[in-house]
Amino acid sequence: MNPLKHVAIIMDGNGRWGIKYKNSRNAGHRAGLNTVQRIINESINQKIKYLTLYAFSTENWKRPKKEINYLFKLLENFLVSRIDELHKQNIKLKIIGSKNFSLKLNKLINLAEKKTSKNDKLQINLAINYGSKTELIIAFKKMIKKKENINEKNFQKYLQTKNIPDPEILIRTGNTKRLSNFLLWQLAYTEIFFEKKLWPAFSKNDFKRVLNKFKKVKRNFGSI
Ligand code: FPP
Repeated sequence: MNPLKHVAIIMDGNGRWGIKYKNSRNAGHRAGLNTVQRIINESINQKIKYLTLYAFSTENWKRPKKEINYLFKLLENFLVSRIDELHKQNIKLKIIGSKNFSLKLNKLINLAEKKTSKNDKLQINLAINYGSKTELIIAFKKMIKKKENINEKNFQKYLQTKNIPDPEILIRTGNTKRLSNFLLWQLAYTEIFFEKKLWPAFSKNDFKRVLNKFKKVKRNFGSI
């Protein structure tokens, strides 16, 4: 059985689900938040230590302003209404991505991160305004400035996922097979599961099915 510490997820398909069932992309994002809660709860059941969720990419700024505003409102509400519950569940929340948001959101994020910083049941890395290429360039620049030896071990210290083991599993829902600028360095040896279901429809049992499939994979890491 493979050890499992870190699951990363590209939560794709909210917009399509929303249009199909509610005639509104934003309704899909709202429903996607319920799946987030389901997966957090099941991650705790499964004793997963790190859950990294791709909530907003650097490329998502190209979307209509109405949708962007809605997503950030959802995020604000999530931080205001769920943080006490997450804290009670002993969950640590960390935001990865460039944190140049509104004053209000930056404040909420800082409060949430500070409040939950000592928790150790599950760490949720919420990727917001995240782009892996930007993360890599910033890391290279920092490493060069420090005049450190350029090697893999040193490089990892400058990533936003510093001190976090690479994901063993990446799940992408929504029936699309691409990485969309997500954790390009960290996914080098990750087992990737592309799921047909749209994110709002992704159930606890779908999640468990992927985890069980992973446990049976023979991981060679280049060996035989
Ligand atoms: C991708 O689906 C999803 C997003 C860009 C947003 C993800 C956000 C959530 C799941 C809810 C907010 C989460 C938190 C934690 C506050 P898409 O819109 O690209 O779907 P499509 O491919 O069908 O258009």
